[in-house]
Amino acid sequence: MSATTSIHGMWSTRLAFILAAAGSAIGLGNVWRFPYTAGEYGGGAFVLVYLLCVAAIGIPIMMAEILIGRRGRQSPINTMRTLAEREGKPAAWSLLGWMGILSGFLILSFYSVIAGWTLAYVVRAAGGAFTGIDAAASKAMFDGFVGNPEALFAWHTVFMVLTVMVVARGVASGLEQSVKWMMPALFVLLLVMVVYAGWAGDLGAAARYLFAPDFARLQDKAGEAILSAMGQAFFSLSLGMGAIMVYGSYLRHDASIARSTVMIAATDTLVALLAGLAIFPMVFAHGLEPGSGPGLIFVTLPIAFGEIPGGSLFGALFFVLLVFAAWTSSISILEPVVAWLVENRGFSRVRAAIIGGTGAWLLGIACLLSLNLWSGYTVAGKGILDLFDYLTANILLPLGGILIAIFAGWVLPRAATLDELGGTDSAGYRLWRFLIRYVAPAAVALVLLNGVGLFKVIGLA
Ligand code: PHE
Repeated sequence: MSATTSIHGMWSTRLAFILAAAGSAIGLGNVWRFPYTAGEYGGGAFVLVYLLCVAAIGIPIMMAEILIGRRGRQSPINTMRTLAEREGKPAAWSLLGWMGILSGFLILSFYSVIAGWTLAYVVRAAGGAFTGIDAAASKAMFDGFVGNPEALFAWHTVFMVLTVMVVARGVASGLEQSVKWMMPALFVLLLVMVVYAGWAGDLGAAARYLFAPDFARLQDKAGEAILSAMGQAFFSLSLGMGAIMVYGSYLRHDASIARSTVMIAATDTLVALLAGLAIFPMVFAHGLEPGSGPGLIFVTLPIAFGEIPGGSLFGALFFVLLVFAAWTSSISILEPVVAWLVENRGFSRVRAAIIGGTGAWLLGIACLLSLNLWSGYTVAGKGILDLFDYLTANILLPLGGILIAIFAGWVLPRAATLDELGGTDSAGYRLWRFLIRYVAPAAVALVLLNGVGLFKVIGLA
């Protein structure tokens, strides 16, 4: 039998879990990363592959992560070990948890830097810096900011402190309270932005760009584009590193995993598409470059806010909500290592949160320096921040996903997963089991190997 509660606390209701998991999923990945990555790979074709990955790979793997977490009721490292040993399988499955901790540190380090940009832009918006700004001035403002290590350092530090504070307070009082109203507010404001962008910008061009797949645009970059679309799905849904697993460990046994997952994945996807529809009309109306990279929203949105009456207030509000979205994600990135430190080292949550946060904060300093003083140091053309981003989203998270799928599909007995997924051997359950045993591991492996160029190396493509 499995434990019915976690020593770290429990979500008070199923809705609280859905909000927390959606809070984890919805973040900079949707509003910052999705638009610029879609822009780098030419739009529609990338978006289509992304949506396919969410449906056929993301949803089944999210269900697997939640059910594994709920069955183990501990940090991902200990959950994997306990469940594996119970089935007479090697305790080395806990390495999956360790890999997740590594991914978590790498992600949180650059995530906090970008969240710091968002904080800085709250202040800029409120101070009227966007009023009447044109594309060139907006770009100059962004470049000036990113070239300033002291400013980046200060905001990165502020954001990391915010993250540690919430995690230190614990599951019910810390995590749960912060998501209740922020997410709905962000959603509403994003809708307002889409309406504005549609009115002031070129909505038709944006919709064609995002939703009319043109595979010719991928050309010889197809393998890389498909890998990036899949990586974006993993990143955006918070999969492959144990964040959703640890949240699942605080979920009551009677809550439906399938229904929760569909709601979480659907809102996450909707927010990403809305962000695209808020940003690309302005990109096209102002002759900006969709593929201009990580600065895309920080250059585009100020132009929109600069045109709107009351745009200073409006812009400040938007970036505040984006900070909150990032915040509800960053706490979930820190939670797996904190749970482990509490379980295995006997630390208090406060101490564990400070230690974990400090580690990611130190790594984050390297990330922010790679944008200015250390911009000359690159590996395969990527600076440290880009490298951490690529390595986690496109390699480590998919790798984690494959292992989670294999564990849920092949290591856990059918009876165990059936029990977690409602107990009735329905067509839905059989579809999930088929996807998790065959489709997800094979698809992720193929996309991964193809995307890193392995098939080219061995002469298959
Ligand atoms: N899903 C979050 C976002 O889109 C980022 C994240 C990745 C959170 C991995 C947890 C784990 O911003």
